[in-house]
Amino acid sequence: MRRVLLAKFLLWAGFAASHAISIGDSMDRRAVQDAHQKAAIPSRNGLRFVIDGQADYFAGSNSYWIPFLKSNSDVDLVMSHLKQSGLKVLRVWGFNDVNEIPTDGRVWFHHISNGTSTINDGADGLQRLDYVVKSAEAHDVKLIVNFVNNWGDYGGIAAYNTAFGGNATSWYTDEASQKSYREYIKAVISRYKGSSAIFAWELANEPRCRGCDTSVIYNWVKSTSAFIKSLEPARMVCIGDEGMGLTTQSDGTYPFTYYEGVDFEKNLDIPTIDFGTLHLYPSQWSEQDPWGNLWIEAHGAACVKAGKPCLLEEYGSLAHASSEAPWQQTALKTKGIAGDTFWQYGDNLSSGPSPDDGYTIFRGTANYTILVTDHVKSIKKANKH
Ligand SMILES: *[C@@H]1O[C@H](CO)[C@@H](O)[C@H](O)[C@H]1NC(C)=O
Ligand SMILES: *[C@@H]1O[C@H](CO)[C@@H](O)[C@H](O)[C@H]1NC(C)=O
Ligand SMILES: *[C@@H]1O[C@H](CO)[C@@H](O)[C@H](O)[C@H]1NC(C)=O
Ligand SMILES: *[C@@H]1O[C@H](CO)[C@@H](O)[C@H](O)[C@H]1NC(C)=O
Repeated sequence: MRRVLLAKFLLWAGFAASHAISIGDSMDRRAVQDAHQKAAIPSRNGLRFVIDGQADYFAGSNSYWIPFLKSNSDVDLVMSHLKQSGLKVLRVWGFNDVNEIPTDGRVWFHHISNGTSTINDGADGLQRLDYVVKSAEAHDVKLIVNFVNNWGDYGGIAAYNTAFGGNATSWYTDEASQKSYREYIKAVISRYKGSSAIFAWELANEPRCRGCDTSVIYNWVKSTSAFIKSLEPARMVCIGDEGMGLTTQSDGTYPFTYYEGVDFEKNLDIPTIDFGTLHLYPSQWSEQDPWGNLWIEAHGAACVKAGKPCLLEEYGSLAHASSEAPWQQTALKTKGIAGDTFWQYGDNLSSGPSPDDGYTIFRGTANYTILVTDHVKSIKKANKH
């Protein structure tokens, strides 16, 4: 979904950051751990995801903000709570593009300006993402990490347009933008090659190309995913799209159309794409329940056809559990849907509550009990162990 910029919160979180002790490992232990991690890279088998050797249905969540926190102990707190809750997969923002380097201590990853790009591997840069990966490794949480935003939050395609010219639709074929985007992808992947904590690399958050022929996004997905596989062949790759554009079980409503330039089924057939993603925000798309169940079932059928698992990667309703719990039940029983990660996880950080865009499900609330505790119980029952 489209997020409002929460610069104020992040600034505060940055200043409030404590100097937490990192999870220290001796070099020897690290080497042994690395060998274990290589064997533990998440994968897929038929219509299932495989984590730690288990081919199961998995639950998880989204926390776009966790790589932008400056407090290690806040990162560890969230990871330990996810582990306790049985939330296995966490989707985070792997990008943070700026046109001007912040002077207020805010975290940034990629400075793009005036035709050039610089990657920030400093303490207020990718070292923050490093800590998220390290903490995820320690807590056995698996991360989906994406590389650019379709929306303007944390830079996104608009920031590339500012630096290199072009617009929201020409970005996918703009040479200078794609060169910079790939340099950034390469820099991130090189840091976490072989890590057990990465579930998948993701091309973008909600890529769209309104009014474009679907071949534009298709060609971009095909070449970018092949590029990522050339950097790390064993790692799963997904698109991060909303799942728009499909004929299977289409009711003709807007999200099923090709209006945003996305063809879910054609893209899913690309060999270097391991699984499909779908998002679900009926109220933002002028739809009403039980439409959400149709959306999930239609994708399940398309994923079965493609022979690949699919992830209900974002879903949200301002009503929370009364809408979302039925979607979870549908996802769990729909063949082809192999997991779900709700939008979005909420917790108490040292700086106060994590960002609340109205869709946040805070740990410790009655909605959390239904959408996390109860859901994880149902999943365990369905997985039968
Ligand atoms: C942009 O690049 C040009 C050419 O290299 C240079 O002359 C100019 O000063 C740069 N502008 C900024 C704002 O960095
Ligand atoms: C974006 O740029 C392309 C290529 O220059 C152009 O054809 C298209 O009309 C532009 N789109 C918008 C919305 O300006
Ligand atoms: C989070 O903090 C609020 C306000 O201090 C408190 O009421 C709530 O119980 C806390 N939640 C959890 C799960 O600790
Ligand atoms: C869940 O959150 C919604 C929206 O804030 C609220 O109306 C509802 O009462 C909550 N449900 C429970 C079980 O507390």
